[in-house]
Amino acid sequence: MTIKPLIILPDPILRQTSALLEDVTPEVQSLAGDMLETMYDAPGIGLAAIQIGVPKRVVVIDLHKEGEEKKPQVFINPEILSSSDARSTYEEGCLSIPDYYAEVERPATIRVRYVDLDGKAQEIEADGLLATCLQHEIDHLNGVLFIDHISRLKREMVIKKFTKAAKLRA
Ligand code: NI
Repeated sequence: MTIKPLIILPDPILRQTSALLEDVTPEVQSLAGDMLETMYDAPGIGLAAIQIGVPKRVVVIDLHKEGEEKKPQVFINPEILSSSDARSTYEEGCLSIPDYYAEVERPATIRVRYVDLDGKAQEIEADGLLATCLQHEIDHLNGVLFIDHISRLKREMVIKKFTKAAKLRA
């Protein structure tokens, strides 16, 4: 497992739509391993493959609490089947938009279908932080960032700030 460099806003790669996987090959398993390693190193609680530059529909999440054992979860081709009308708000951040946080309102409960690392189809009902995290990561697979869910004024300010920083890095 290798720690990969993260793609940072405003890199246009983040706006790509990721492709469905046809099979859970050893390459996909190794991609998921690299993603987990990269996420733990950052550290973060969720990562989509596109954030390390791979436009494939793979998401990793780990919501274990501090002092508890790691609980890695891998979602291949995740798809939201239904969303609750009830909504909840969390302060979100993103490894591709470091050190920026904002409150985002999303459906509180979702039903998600995905394929696990063994290639088996699974379905879960997620609520709480997992529901928000899954929606945030599935957004990434469609080229959507959490800042797309905040006010235009705030979004433009963040993009401007990160564009400036990228120019300084270049
Ligand atoms: Ni993110």
